[in-house]
Amino acid sequence: MNEFDIVVDAITSRRSVRGFLPEPVGIDLINKILATASYAPSGSNIQPWHVHVVMGEKRDELSRQLLDAHNRKRPESREYDYYPVNWRSPYIERRRETGWGLYETLGIQKGDRQASAQQHGRNYSFFGAPVVLIFSIDNDLQQGSWLDYGMFLQNIMVAARGCGLHTCPQAALANYPDIVKSQLGIDDGRTVICGISMGYEDTDCLANRFRPPRIGLDEFVTFHS
Ligand SMILES: Cc1cc2nc3c(=O)[nH]c(=O)nc-3n(C[C@H](O)[C@H](O)[C@H](O)COP(=O)(O)O)c2cc1C
Repeated sequence: MNEFDIVVDAITSRRSVRGFLPEPVGIDLINKILATASYAPSGSNIQPWHVHVVMGEKRDELSRQLLDAHNRKRPESREYDYYPVNWRSPYIERRRETGWGLYETLGIQKGDRQASAQQHGRNYSFFGAPVVLIFSIDNDLQQGSWLDYGMFLQNIMVAARGCGLHTCPQAALANYPDIVKSQLGIDDGRTVICGISMGYEDTDCLANRFRPPRIGLDEFVTFHS
């Protein structure tokens, strides 16, 4: 493969994997991925990221507590708005297409609340991944730093592909910030942004067959000359 193809392959082979093998991921590999990701650009190079790498017993305990909150139907309370308050076209259609596409792949019927809740709950077992990365940011940092953070997150996911690993970014892991903060010792001066589950793909998992489409260039590019 030429250099362009290698880059394209790393970017386009990244997808949200929702079924992982229990096979552990070595610390050296995790460090390599995070060190690579830290080359992400950030305004004035302030590097606003902080990562908690959660594995082993701590991972299991965090999962247990999050699942317990989910099963008890504790209201989710993310510390920031990820989505628009009022969904509108064209975003609502894209959201539906993606949500229903996944559920169709899994054989979940529209309106089957129990099965939907069960699938949502799988977020809290990190889809079986042995490693979960939790990301937080200082509360006094601004939107620009969140922009920087996104680049860092994408770098992690692309670098993981280079090591044969897959990932799933999860805003769901910020749904119960009090649990995450108390488990990981994150103080209230910080906001839990999201998590990334990481590991080796379970290729037998049905959910991993789903690949959401992308809009065409004609829908999001305007050329000027
Ligand atoms: C910041 C962020 C948060 C996300 N949160 C979740 C989540 O909580 N649970 C989940 O299953 N997928 C989550 N996703 C995955 C998106 O659904 C997915 O990226 C989108 O449908 C496109 O699919 P692809 O990643 O497979 O290309 C998230 C993605 C991003 C970028």
